[in-house]
Amino acid sequence: MPLQQTQVINVLKTTFIPGLKKLLLSVGTLQKIDVREDEVLISLMIPEIPEGDVNTLKDTITKRLKDIGAKKVGLTVSFKTEQKIKDIIAIASGKGGVGKSTVSTNIAIALAKSGKKVGVLDADIHGPNLPIMFGIHEKPFVNENKRIIPIERYGVKVISLGFLVESPSTPIIWRGPLVTKAIEQLYNDVEWGELDYLLIDLPPETGDAALTVMQSLPLKYGIIVTTPQDVSVADASKALKMFKKMNIPVLGVIENMSYFICPKCSEKTEIFGHGGGERMSLENEVPFLGKIPLETKVRESGDNGMPTVASSEETETKHIFIDVAKKIIKNTQKD
Ligand SMILES: Nc1ncnc2c1ncn2[C@@H]1O[C@H](COP(=O)(O)OP(=O)(O)OP(=O)(O)O)[C@@H](O)[C@H]1O
Ligand SMILES: [Mg+2]
Repeated sequence: MPLQQTQVINVLKTTFIPGLKKLLLSVGTLQKIDVREDEVLISLMIPEIPEGDVNTLKDTITKRLKDIGAKKVGLTVSFKTEQKIKDIIAIASGKGGVGKSTVSTNIAIALAKSGKKVGVLDADIHGPNLPIMFGIHEKPFVNENKRIIPIERYGVKVISLGFLVESPSTPIIWRGPLVTKAIEQLYNDVEWGELDYLLIDLPPETGDAALTVMQSLPLKYGIIVTTPQDVSVADASKALKMFKKMNIPVLGVIENMSYFICPKCSEKTEIFGHGGGERMSLENEVPFLGKIPLETKVRESGDNGMPTVASSEETETKHIFIDVAKKIIKNTQKD
C-alpha cells in the first residue's frame, strides 16, 4: 500500500527536536509536504539549533519514515528567525475616530527620527488605515522562506492587516479565530529584524484583536489615546482597565484633538472640552504624555500619506509629537 500523508504527519508529530526537548510541530512549522507513492518531500521551519542537532533531526526523521515504507526522503530544514524586538507597545482608545492611527503613525516616525529602530503593526480589523497614512500603495514582498518583508517608509517598518486583503476599501468580516491567526501571522511571519519599538495600532474596541495582541504577543506596554470629552475618556478608561487587568503597564495617556487654533485669528478653541486626558491620567496614576491640537494639516497630511512629523515644515504640532516620543523613550528606559 502506498504511504499515506497522515502516516508521515504522525511521524513528524511524534518526533522531538534534539537539544530543545520539544516536539517538532509544537515549536516548528511544516511548510511543505508532498507524499507520492513511496517518495516523501518535506520542508520544515524550526527554531535555530546547532548544525549537529539539525543532522540528528534529519537522520531521525528519515529513518522513521523509511521504517514505515518510504524509499526516498527529501528533507529541508530552515530556521525561524527569532524576533529581536525590545518593546512592543499597543496603542488603544476604546472609542473610534479619536486619532489612534494618526498618533501611532506620527509617533513611530518621531521615534525613528530620534534614532530608534521602529516598526508599526496595523491590527485594525475593520479599517486598516496605516497604508494610506504612510502613503503605501504596494503589497509587501514575501521571500523564499515565506517570510513577509515589511515596507519601510520614513524610517519605519510598516505591516498592516490591509496588506492581507484585496483592496483596502473592501469591507472585511473577520471571525474571532481568523483575527487571532491574522494578527499572530503579522507578528511571527514578518521579518521585523532588530527593533527598539514595535507599535501596534489597535482597532477601536476591546474585542478579539485587542485580546489577541494582549494574550498572544509579548506586549510590554500600552498607550491610551483619548479626546478631552467625557464620552471618549469613559471609553478610554475601559481600555486602560483592560491593560491593567492583563498586568500590562500603561506608558501614558495622549490627549488628541485637545484644542483648535484658528489659522486666521490664532484664537484657541477647546472644541471637545478641557482636561479629560489629564484627569484620566491623574485618576489612574499613569503619566500624561501630551496634548495634540486639532489641526487641518494633521488631517490632510494623514490623507496624503505624508504625516506631519515626516513633512519638512516645522510646525508646533510636529514638535509636540517629537516631545511625546522623547517621553516614551525616557519612560521605557527606566527598567
Ligand atoms: N490632531 C488631529 N487634527 C486633525 N485631524 C485629526 C487629528 N487626529 C486625527 N485626525 C483625523 O481624524 C480622523 C480619525 O483619525 P484616526 O483614523 O487617526 O483615528 P482612529 O482612532 O485610528 O480611528 P479608528 O477608530 O477608525 O481606527 C482622520 O481623518 C484623521 O486624519
Ligand atoms: Mg485607526
